[in-house]
Amino acid sequence: MDDFDLSGKRVLIRQDLNVPVKDGVVTSDARIKASLPTIQKALEAGAAVIVMSHLGRPTEGEPAAEYSLTPVVNYLREALSVPVTLATDYLDGVDAKAGELTVLENVRFNVGEKKNTDDLAQRYAALCDIFVMDAFGTAHRAQGSTHGVAKFAKDACAGPLLANELDALGKALENPKRPLVAIVGGSKVSTKLTVLDSLAEKVDQLIVGGGIANTFIAAQGHQVGKSLVEMDLVPEAQRLIQQAQAQGGNIPVPVDVVTGKEFSETAAAETKDVSAIEADDMVFDIGPASAKQLADILTNAGTIVWNGPVGVFEFDQFGAGTEALARAIADSDAFSIAGGGDTLAAVDKYGIADKVSYISTGGGAFLEFLEGKTLPAVAVLAEKY
Ligand code: 3PG
Repeated sequence: MDDFDLSGKRVLIRQDLNVPVKDGVVTSDARIKASLPTIQKALEAGAAVIVMSHLGRPTEGEPAAEYSLTPVVNYLREALSVPVTLATDYLDGVDAKAGELTVLENVRFNVGEKKNTDDLAQRYAALCDIFVMDAFGTAHRAQGSTHGVAKFAKDACAGPLLANELDALGKALENPKRPLVAIVGGSKVSTKLTVLDSLAEKVDQLIVGGGIANTFIAAQGHQVGKSLVEMDLVPEAQRLIQQAQAQGGNIPVPVDVVTGKEFSETAAAETKDVSAIEADDMVFDIGPASAKQLADILTNAGTIVWNGPVGVFEFDQFGAGTEALARAIADSDAFSIAGGGDTLAAVDKYGIADKVSYISTGGGAFLEFLEGKTLPAVAVLAEKY
């Protein structure tokens, strides 16, 4: 965006303002805050700024009030000192004024947004002189407002937020300071198999946590009781361990765990060796010996990529493992990146946000980048130039 003279131009910025809203109020403003510098920069340059975003997953052609960007616009009115207007009927043109902000109502209300029809993309493109793609969090979606519009706009470029995200992730994965350590937590191996596969090839240590770790514990021949586990993926877990070791890396499987008999805030927690998991146990966290071993790995890391907690940290008695790793990341000199909704909730809970080198705004996009996939809304910018 810095390469363009924005003065007097109609600048259409795609942001990811898909934020949680409760009773008409934004409950987590991280994505809006991350987008503000780009919007401010364009306003200060004298552009007529138009911002577009999706919110949630509404049915196309049915503009439901619960998916309106009104709460986001209210937030922006407080945050900015310029007039902010919400445009609901904009596909045939908007009256955008220099130094002012117009926000287009949820793009997913528009028929053709998800299918990325040329007709809709051309209409978006006609609204502007320059299209700025700044929505890293939606860059993995080839939709009208992320991909199609870039094809048809007179000029198109990346915004500073998107550029920063790609720089930070590139620094972590393309030419990392070693040892490179990744933490992949979450409930299922199946949803993260591609990311595990891709990381097992690249990293020096691949830490697995949550339900994913249970499948790895089972792969080592231990019973995991009533825990969340995917027995059909045990061979995949064994293959991943071998794959990592063949590259000179490692997947350290927990040696001890914290279990409960029921998934509840009041469940009693018991620490035990992995060989002592009972038939009616559920594994909800890694144990202290594992946490210490993994924290040591993190302390000595050159680069850390974190996606997913290693336990049910929302219940305090099962949060010690995730907390220990969070503290080790905070104390480490490594270049660290955290991304994904649950991970950011853990970063907030343990108050380490200012100790993480880069916090990504991406959820699905962050994962797809880790998987080594091309992000279509980034690729289209590269193709255009
Ligand atoms: C996200 O929250 O990950 C992005 O805003 C993308 O949303 P989507 O998964 O509904 O496309």
